[in-house]
Amino acid sequence: MDNRPIGVFDSGLGGLTAVRQMRSILPSENIIYFGDTSRVPYGGRSQEILLKYGRQDVRFLRSFDIKAIVVACGTVSTTALPTLRAENDLPILGVVEPACRRAVGQTRNKRVGLIATAASVRSGSYERTIHALDEGVEVISKACPLFVPLVENGRYQVGDSVIETVAREYLVPLRDTGIDTLILGCTHYPLLTEIIGRIMGPDVMLIDTGEEAAWELKRTLTAQDMLAEERMGEATFYASDQPSDFGALASCFLREPMEKAVLPVDIETY
Ligand code: DGL
Repeated sequence: MDNRPIGVFDSGLGGLTAVRQMRSILPSENIIYFGDTSRVPYGGRSQEILLKYGRQDVRFLRSFDIKAIVVACGTVSTTALPTLRAENDLPILGVVEPACRRAVGQTRNKRVGLIATAASVRSGSYERTIHALDEGVEVISKACPLFVPLVENGRYQVGDSVIETVAREYLVPLRDTGIDTLILGCTHYPLLTEIIGRIMGPDVMLIDTGEEAAWELKRTLTAQDMLAEERMGEATFYASDQPSDFGALASCFLREPMEKAVLPVDIETY
């Protein structure tokens, strides 16, 4: 048993979609969340910058006595995870491996789609991980760079013509490749599940990377006898900037009102 908190970080508030899953799958765990809201988006940045940011995010979380870290950010998971793991002596989970394992287990026709940020797609991380599990699975990837800013501007509702037009442009060619499984490889995409599902159709299984990471975390903590005792876990939120629409956006990702104060962090000092 281990009652220390779990650290979770993301480029911004999108990682709260993973926190939501963790709070439902592991309700007894305390969570310390850091959103790097002063430097979001990470999705178009270079490998070097992403590693620098990832290291600072980990150093900040490690200023607390935490037992594990979840890299909720798809972009950092695809570009910097092996280095962050090698440099730190605690379990660090990303979102790639759990989602790939689920996709390989799920696909019937061995055609898996991936949508993510440009940096994540460019990294080839999902393809490598899937091929290590099953060489016979074909991975068809599509960067969807407009999804993050549209979601952050509240344009994620069914019936919104802007997001629906953009989604069709990205997804119809992907659907037409005949994939039967689609990995939503970015923190923001769970908010688009309904829109994406309608375009892809009922035969395409959608995989939420945050949810798969939360299940993987549960397996890891269970195997290492590191689960918290049964209790009501709490989440504490830190951010490197608080723009005026912070609360509204955070509530959308968390799907519950953001009632707690968010604490400031000067991330450049880490
Ligand atoms: N959190 C990022 C990801 O999951 C999306 C937002 C960004 O580009 O920073 O890849």
